[in-house]
Amino acid sequence: MHSFFDPASPQARAVAGLWWWMFGVGMVIWFGVFAVAMYAARQPHGQRGPDDLEHVSPERHRRMERVVAGAVFATILILCAFLVYDFSIGSVLAMHPKRALTIDVVGHQWWWEITYEDPNPSKRVGTANEIHVPVGELVQFKLRAADVIHSIWAPNLGGKKDLIPGYVSTLWFKADTAGVYRGQCTEFCGMQHAQMAFYIVAEPPVKFAGWLAAGSIPNPPPTDSLLLHGRDVFMQRGCASCHSIGGTDARATVGPDLTHFKGRAAIAAGSLSNTRANLTRWIQNPSALKPGVRMPALELSPGEMNALVSYLETLK
Ligand code: CUA
Repeated sequence: MHSFFDPASPQARAVAGLWWWMFGVGMVIWFGVFAVAMYAARQPHGQRGPDDLEHVSPERHRRMERVVAGAVFATILILCAFLVYDFSIGSVLAMHPKRALTIDVVGHQWWWEITYEDPNPSKRVGTANEIHVPVGELVQFKLRAADVIHSIWAPNLGGKKDLIPGYVSTLWFKADTAGVYRGQCTEFCGMQHAQMAFYIVAEPPVKFAGWLAAGSIPNPPPTDSLLLHGRDVFMQRGCASCHSIGGTDARATVGPDLTHFKGRAAIAAGSLSNTRANLTRWIQNPSALKPGVRMPALELSPGEMNALVSYLETLK
């Protein structure tokens, strides 16, 4: 699910093609050098002179010079060919497509903030660590970093690109095969760098459009008393000072947007699958699961925890 060898976009295919060519040519050269070394080792020794060094005949010496010069020339030729091939792929990948779905991606320690901008602010969709994209359409990521340098890479689809504080860079690709592809931060960014994963969900355009449209519509407010209690815990016991939930007063942007939290497959940037048990463990003590994480542990009674988790589970 996270493999460079299984490209799902023309961009990743181009990079994989370059890799296979380099690998193939490299193998041919390796076997060639090995064969020549074996051949050389089996050659009869030259005469030892009075200085105890081997002396070869002038003809043999010239032949050896020609072989070495030929090998150097072939090396230069092969490296130049790969340089041209590499640049040609690099220039295609660096291109800025004129019309593409643009998704804002902000790297945080240690999660990914995802925003689908819309001229109409009420249609704006915020999510985290899970990026839905339509198959067959150009997608452009606008990349920024909130704290330190991060780097985004979903090996099946293309990339990788650094996210640099104070600078906007772009990365684009077109998924041509539907699927869920794992990606990973690839620039060391602190303690939980390894647990800064994300998923790209490539789905048919119609399904994507449905997901996006639903994303801007908040869940209806709870009516059940347990869920109402859970929402109060969320609002009053600290959660709302970092997170936002569409349709409520929680609008903070320090941590992930939780409007449709339950629609995501994982929590804590790919660290845990999104189950009730994991969510409870996570809220009880985030640092135990992800040392160094910014999210604090909250002192909640079992009743409050149950209500809070029950409420969060309804945010589909
Ligand atoms: Cu973010 Cu490594």
